Amino acid sequence: MQKVTVRVPGSTSNLGPGFDCLGIALRIHNSVTVTRARSRQSHPRIVLETADGFFKQTGRRAFPFSYSIMEQVPRCRGLGGSATVRLGILLALNRLSGDLLHRLAVFRVCAELEGHPDNAAPASFGGFTVVGSQRGGPTVQRFNVSSRVYFVLLVPDLEIQTKPARAILPSKISWIEAVENCANACVTTAAFASQHYEKLRGAFSDHLHQPFRSKLIPFLPRVIAAAEKAGALGTFLSGSGSTIAAVTLHRPQKIAAVMLAAARASARTIITHADNHGAQTFNH
Ligand code: HSE
Repeated sequence: MQKVTVRVPGSTSNLGPGFDCLGIALRIHNSVTVTRARSRQSHPRIVLETADGFFKQTGRRAFPFSYSIMEQVPRCRGLGGSATVRLGILLALNRLSGDLLHRLAVFRVCAELEGHPDNAAPASFGGFTVVGSQRGGPTVQRFNVSSRVYFVLLVPDLEIQTKPARAILPSKISWIEAVENCANACVTTAAFASQHYEKLRGAFSDHLHQPFRSKLIPFLPRVIAAAEKAGALGTFLSGSGSTIAAVTLHRPQKIAAVMLAAARASARTIITHADNHGAQTFNH
């Protein structure tokens, strides 16, 4: 086999209180095609690092390849774009090498390269994912998300790099705030797992990252307030931003319109659902 395409879903992560552990795959995708080549090609850093990670993990001799990406996931907007690229390259090289690694091992390489696991997990496995940090490497539990649930995404023109958006976070938060975050992350997971979506109301509130990242996205509080007033079950910063995601069972167009109006910034909206499949690999 010489050529492989991997279709990888973008994702929303953190879901408010679930910093670095909760994520949901979305029906917006990047398709990464990798072809064996005769000679070494020049690649951007993200692709080189990822290929190095794969060949190091498998202990196989590196082979040259070319690649292309059909891109639907907005870049640098907190929608897991870099995880789609890394996972696409990893799964394609894995298939071209005869599937040396199983899916969990590929996910772990991707999460390590990303520096956080909460986009790599939904991109790999689809649906709602919870990543645990057990010794021996991160573990993943997943379940499907109903297609009754709409995700309304406000995608500002503003690009945010994850690294500086992590650097502004404090090294400590108060005990009472930590307790509230734990409770909210558990409520969010239980509400999605049981499909008792009304229980999501109020559960997306967070003390770990959103208050600090509002400095980068000053319209975050007013977009959250507007979406929730218009009937959204809850609204949160997607990953490290700049996308703001609302969850609703009804009237997604109306919620998209009020989010856009409240932002008073150049932005677009996407209305989508969860992707319950995760990355899919196709041989040519
Ligand atoms: N959990 C990561 C963060 C996601 O918030 O920094 C990055 O999109």
